[in-house]
Amino acid sequence: METLLRLRASVAISIFALLLVLPSCSAQDIQVVNAERRIDLTSHIIKVFLTLKVENTGASPASEILLAFPPTQVDHLAVVKAQVAIGKRKKKTYIPQDVNPKELPDAPNGTKYFSISLLNPLAAGEAVTLEVLYMLTHSLEPFPVEISQSESQLVYYRDSALILSPYHIKQQITFIKTPTSKVESFTVVDPAHRAGTELKYGPYNGHPPYSYSPVIVHFENNSPFAVVEELVREVEISHWGSLQITEQYKLAHAGARHKGVFSRVEYQSRAGNSGVSSFRHLLARLPPRVHSVYYRDEIGNISSSRLRLGAQKSELEIEPRYPLFGGWKATFIIGYGLPLEDFLFESPDGRRYLNFSYGCPLVETVVDKLTIKVVLPEGSKGPSAVVPFPVNQYLEKKYSYLDVVGRTVVVLEKKNVVPEHNTPFQVYYHFNPIFMLAEPLMLTSAFFLLFVTWVAYLHIDLSLRK
Ligand SMILES: *[C@@H]1O[C@H](CO)[C@@H](O)[C@H](O)[C@H]1NC(C)=O
Ligand SMILES: *[C@@H]1O[C@H](CO)[C@@H](O)[C@H](O)[C@H]1NC(C)=O
Ligand SMILES: *[C@@H]1O[C@H](CO)[C@@H](O)[C@H](O)[C@H]1NC(C)=O
Repeated sequence: METLLRLRASVAISIFALLLVLPSCSAQDIQVVNAERRIDLTSHIIKVFLTLKVENTGASPASEILLAFPPTQVDHLAVVKAQVAIGKRKKKTYIPQDVNPKELPDAPNGTKYFSISLLNPLAAGEAVTLEVLYMLTHSLEPFPVEISQSESQLVYYRDSALILSPYHIKQQITFIKTPTSKVESFTVVDPAHRAGTELKYGPYNGHPPYSYSPVIVHFENNSPFAVVEELVREVEISHWGSLQITEQYKLAHAGARHKGVFSRVEYQSRAGNSGVSSFRHLLARLPPRVHSVYYRDEIGNISSSRLRLGAQKSELEIEPRYPLFGGWKATFIIGYGLPLEDFLFESPDGRRYLNFSYGCPLVETVVDKLTIKVVLPEGSKGPSAVVPFPVNQYLEKKYSYLDVVGRTVVVLEKKNVVPEHNTPFQVYYHFNPIFMLAEPLMLTSAFFLLFVTWVAYLHIDLSLRK
């Protein structure tokens, strides 16, 4: 009994000690000395570069810095990355830091947070420069909602002139870049200024935490609003030397809806002036050494595609049967083969692994839902995937021609995918080479059986003649 009590007491003491040791850093201990934000609105994928010089004004080291987003923005966030900049000017080096969503109780007005975990905690009284990149999709709202073939596309972008932050910001400035100098209107929060394609908000001094000042920018944006609502990429590994890729696209133009009838004559005769927000070509970046490329839709093969092979990458330019206007959709399939030795390797522990690129090969495209299916060779065991960001993973079985036990399919799903996600991922698995003999063995035994039957038949025939 006594030892139990003593044990309890010591456990309580050690928990208490642990709590004391943990760096207690409240938001008040951090302040942003200087913030610069650059919002790039030239495409339909919005890129925001945020440079924050943060200072630890507390007494203990701080190991995390919070980023705040309004709840309306957080659903459209495709990427949030952060790195610490070290050194001055040309000698700057960048160290990537971990960024993860974080829930905090009593967040004002539903603010959502991302936490940057600093690899090297920020000592009391010190400052560090953070470079943050985040991307937003589906955040430009066409207005007018419908346009005719001869009209240009105008959109709204909503944000705050002041950077939303849980920290006090001493000094800040925001630059917004528009694709053209045609800006219909923008909310003025003094000082605000526009010159050509650049809008400047600030500098603003001394704003308390959670300062917010809504602004709307109404401007022209005719970049192709190419959104793949659903993309299924199947990567089939055959140990007989090739990787077969099949990609099924459901593509949509997510810009202002097309109003009235489509005139092909006008479209072709006034090129550059008619249907400026529509798109006609799409560019797919494929790996080098790609072969047996095809491109087809429900009707059949489409020949209007051009392939340029390169040492670094290959480019496939595809042209759907009709140009895509706002609200229009197209479904199609692209297929190609790749040499296995460029993508399949053996890891030091004897497992095999596929090293392939995640994301969508179409440039400057948003994918609402991406499913990658890696079909492993028959007889593979213990698959595991390594993807540099969270994805939904599960296994499936696929049976194809000549399969006995079926093939394991590793399925990786992700929503809201942007070109930034085109990074390598790996799928590891065990494979016993004896399985490579299975198919030829089956074929030879089938032929052998046929042969035996044939011989037997001949014998019967002979015996009859006698
Ligand atoms: C929360 O929203 C209300 C109403 O929109 C606004 O008046 C208030 O300033 C906001 N509070 C913060 C902390 O942003
Ligand atoms: C489409 O093209 C591919 C590759 O060039 C070819 O294998 C296939 O037979 C073609 N299909 C039709 C229906 O023409
Ligand atoms: C995967 O391929 C990329 C280049 O495409 C390479 O940089 C990376 O090191 C490879 N990863 C592994 C685990 O082999």
